[in-house]
Amino acid sequence: MTIQEFKSACSTIEQEYKAKIGQAADLAAVEELRVAALGRKGALTELLKGLKDFSIEEKKEAGPLGNALKAALTAAFDEKTEFFAAKEINDELNKVNLDLTLPGYPVAKGHRHPLSVAQDRMTDILSRLGFEWAEGPWVEDEKHNFDLLNIPLHHPARDAQDTFFVDGKMPLVLRTHTSNVQSRYMEKHKPPLRIMAPGRVFRNDSLDATHSPVFHQIEGLYVDKHVSLADLKSDLTAFMKGLFGNKAEIRFRPSFFPFTEPSVEVDVKCVFCQGKGCNVCKGNGWIEMLGAGVVHPNVLRNCGIDPEVYSGYAFGMGVERLAMMMLNIKDIRTFYENDLRVLKQF
Ligand code: PHE
Repeated sequence: MTIQEFKSACSTIEQEYKAKIGQAADLAAVEELRVAALGRKGALTELLKGLKDFSIEEKKEAGPLGNALKAALTAAFDEKTEFFAAKEINDELNKVNLDLTLPGYPVAKGHRHPLSVAQDRMTDILSRLGFEWAEGPWVEDEKHNFDLLNIPLHHPARDAQDTFFVDGKMPLVLRTHTSNVQSRYMEKHKPPLRIMAPGRVFRNDSLDATHSPVFHQIEGLYVDKHVSLADLKSDLTAFMKGLFGNKAEIRFRPSFFPFTEPSVEVDVKCVFCQGKGCNVCKGNGWIEMLGAGVVHPNVLRNCGIDPEVYSGYAFGMGVERLAMMMLNIKDIRTFYENDLRVLKQF
């Protein structure tokens, strides 16, 4: 092959393939042509193999020519391939008749559970009253759930009918109230202290409209010099007004808890009938909301706090019960069934 023949072969290949690329009907045709020109046995590949027979001078002329042609053809193939790839997407889009000006589909947003909403409102108010967040374990030893809280060994609360026991060497229970946070906190911190402890508690009850084996409480504990029942009353009044509005009223009824003395049951005047009596308060005009009292000296002493110097109040309220009243929910099971039609209302 002479250099002249090489040059003319180059221009033949260039013309032939550029024309064919121009006419290629689809992606497959382009690929077929690419192999025919640039593949291992392709026309240009075969032609370039002849370069080895040229003299050094001829190679200097022919080599760059061949390489330039290879680059030009590769570029032409790539361009055509891209064209068809884009065309394929456009054809697909044209088929589905897409209107880009239409508004999008709404994305279903997550939603807070009504109990979380209620609990947040309660802890929000308490924190404004100066209570700090505290927590304790769900699986608790008898010492913190009962002993330190002055609940004697033979108290009915310690019976398996009321308490879930956890198997193991040490007697462990699922905490029956958030009062375990009282003993745990006072062991570690000395007064003045003012805490709220929201969380899950467990009792061996069966599920009905007003009971659940798992429910939530918020514990409150305030210990300092000269804390009295009067402080409890004013703070809880402020809390209930924060929750139910300025008309909220509370009353104390005498009660008994081993860890408080005196102990009280706290009622809130029914927010639905303003105390006149309705089906929510079962005609009473008042609804029982929480247990509370002045911290028993034994509890302070058990936790290393001198009851001659310090006194305190404590309360424990049921989150579900308050939430039911806030949200006008009649059945506690509503909270746990996770029926979206219900949950979405809050
Ligand atoms: N722990 C008591 C209960 O679960 C409530 C309570 C807490 C009462 C603190 C008095 C003081 O019923």
